[in-house]
Amino acid sequence: MSNASKPIDLLRELKKLRISINNKRILDVGCGKGDWISYMNQTTGEAHTQVHFMGADISLKEVTVAKSRNSARNSDFLRATIKNLPFRGNAFDIVICNVVLPYVSQKKAIEQISRVLNEEGVIFASHHDFGWYLANALSGRGVYHGFH
Ligand SMILES: C[S@@+](CC[C@H](N)C(=O)[O-])C[C@H]1O[C@@H](n2cnc3c(N)ncnc32)[C@H](O)[C@@H]1O
Repeated sequence: MSNASKPIDLLRELKKLRISINNKRILDVGCGKGDWISYMNQTTGEAHTQVHFMGADISLKEVTVAKSRNSARNSDFLRATIKNLPFRGNAFDIVICNVVLPYVSQKKAIEQISRVLNEEGVIFASHHDFGWYLANALSGRGVYHGFH
């Protein structure tokens, strides 16, 4: 897993909050190649067999790679947009949204995440760091690209 896709140790952060992932339903929205789900599955191993991971991404290519890398029975992946998540309300205990918000309508994305996250739920969301925005601006590529 690259540093860009693992800016924090999510399991350690959850531990600090005294939150166990056991028996939890976890959505990784904009999951890309499923690195976060692989990481959590590999790190927790057999200790957390009851956790369920759902990865969703707008890119079929990314979803296909994520599926091929995560064959564990507790993990599912589907193609979906954060703008219209195909899940019932309160469906998840934890939502991960790592470096996806820069590419989407943030209002719509946050509305959808709030809808699918239960009342006690926790969200981990991140943006690119300042250096990324600076490098893009200086290179002339602009701040945003591939806005869905
Ligand atoms: C910078 S990558 C981060 C991937 C992953 N979260 C990680 O940390 O490795 C951004 C991801 O957001 C996905 N994405 C972009 N727009 C999206 C949308 N509207 N709905 C769902 N996913 C989207 C892209 O396909 C891409 O996989």
